[in-house]
Amino acid sequence: MTDLATLAAEVAACTRCPLHATRTQVVFGRGNPDADLVFVGEAPGAEEDAQGVPFVGRSGKLLDRLAAEELGLTDADFYVMNVLRCRPPGNRDPKPDEVASCSAWFDAQLALLQPKVVVSLGNFATRSLLGTTEGITRLRGKAYPWRDIVLVPTYHPAAALRGGPQPLAEMRADFVRAKQVLEASR
Ligand code: URA
Repeated sequence: MTDLATLAAEVAACTRCPLHATRTQVVFGRGNPDADLVFVGEAPGAEEDAQGVPFVGRSGKLLDRLAAEELGLTDADFYVMNVLRCRPPGNRDPKPDEVASCSAWFDAQLALLQPKVVVSLGNFATRSLLGTTEGITRLRGKAYPWRDIVLVPTYHPAAALRGGPQPLAEMRADFVRAKQVLEASR
């Protein structure tokens, strides 16, 4: 098996799906590759595409704030990545063929990271990882055995930014759940 830097270099040259034609650059991951906790979002947005780093815009700021406040962690302690490594134009939803094309990269990246806990952010990431069409409102609030990892679904930070106090409070509760799962896995 290759290492993360080699994988990142391979992904940087990817042309497996049409998004390679419209991206500024591939957005691979950020944080600590040895961390036990990995956050998984949907796909890069405009700022992530510009900087080549996941969750650096408003959603990312909220993610980092909640991680600090509820988990006591910074991204020196966790890792952040997305289901897709390239930005869908205009931030439209990823298409099934794009997800299929990117899934081998996702799986290879996760296999190298070997986290104990994955927190999936939002409907899209959660559905795509759990292979369900159930909505995030029903899926969140629980931890799921997934592969050899525990998956804790929560809202996408953008939904909490839009939705106000209730989704934000539920997101905080999910982060506390993730912390408990993390501690139990040690
Ligand atoms: N939203 C996501 O799902 N991922 C990012 O990297 C940024 C915003």
